[in-house]
Amino acid sequence: MRPMLVLGIETTCDETAAAVVRVGADGRGTILSNVVRTQIEDHAPYGGVVPEIAARAHVEVVDRVVAEALRQADTKAGDLDAVAAAGGPGLVGGVLVGLTTAKAMALVLGKPLVAVNHLEAHALTARLTDGVAFPFLLLLVSGGHTQLLAVTGVGAYAKLGTTIDDAIGEAFDKVAKLLGLPYPGGPEVERRAAGGDPRRFAFPRPLQGRPEPDFSLSGLKTAVRIAADGLRDPSGALTEKDIADICASFQAAVADMVADRCRVAIRLFRERHGEPTALVVAGGVGANQTLRAVLQKTAEAVGLPLVVPPPKLCTDNGAMIAWAGAERLGLGLTDALDVAPRARWPL
Ligand code: KG4
Ligand code: ZN
Repeated sequence: MRPMLVLGIETTCDETAAAVVRVGADGRGTILSNVVRTQIEDHAPYGGVVPEIAARAHVEVVDRVVAEALRQADTKAGDLDAVAAAGGPGLVGGVLVGLTTAKAMALVLGKPLVAVNHLEAHALTARLTDGVAFPFLLLLVSGGHTQLLAVTGVGAYAKLGTTIDDAIGEAFDKVAKLLGLPYPGGPEVERRAAGGDPRRFAFPRPLQGRPEPDFSLSGLKTAVRIAADGLRDPSGALTEKDIADICASFQAAVADMVADRCRVAIRLFRERHGEPTALVVAGGVGANQTLRAVLQKTAEAVGLPLVVPPPKLCTDNGAMIAWAGAERLGLGLTDALDVAPRARWPL
């Protein structure tokens, strides 16, 4: 790969983010800056992301976030080799903001534009952080997606399994909500679970033992609701101890389920694609430490390294967009200035 300097802009959900990544002659990436302006406070009163509020909040700060990313990277816009932005999937009003900003910069600078698939950016992050080689098994677990994929190259993804109902991050968020915990739920459930007993509730491990590595979360979520409702006092409140024990038991059930599905996926991967270089975890739920610990054992047992990017690079960020942009640029995969934002864009 030739040396490159790429700006990445991310606005698909509730973070306005921009980063500059440098790729050396050896093909390894270095994050020169990684600025994330979260909208959590804007959405917290509503218990979830409100698309119209998200789009407006991106408009308000995107230029400052980009300027700050360039400043922290000590990079002039004119020195960039390309401008990348997430082109979807996501809330289309937000995607439009980041993509249009990238188009304007690319046009003015006379540099190539790369419209990056947000999921591909999550998928390729482990190549930025750990230089993981193709092919690898990817567990993509975010607020909107739960997939096991064989990644055999840039743009080459074969689906092994997916969720038949909710995404895992979504289940964390819904469980948090029904326990009265603040948005966003995943990190809060993890925090509460730290003081809880993971064995108090025997929540179901849906689809365990099935030959296809698919996921189902709705039965588990219902079991959590029934357990919680059985413990509420007349005002509907739960004790701190009950909340902690439910969070810990729910998290343990998710971790068990994910480990079982990954074991099946590794078997399928070996049958269909040969030996993977690693089990890679991507997406916001990858920030969960209990999940990481369980997957570490799972990977060790089958002789694979587990690669999980640091939490800040698991949740949405600009560095993953810049890196995926650089990978695509290196292959000559750039986009025309009239490329459209996409609400849906499966890998
Ligand atoms: O990848 P991401 O930042 O945004 C999407 O593209 O969806 O993932 C966000 C999801 C949310 O559902 C959030 O609750 C979950 O990831 N999440 C976590 C943790 N941190 C974020 N879930 C469990 N444990 C965490 N520590
Ligand atoms: Zn994401």
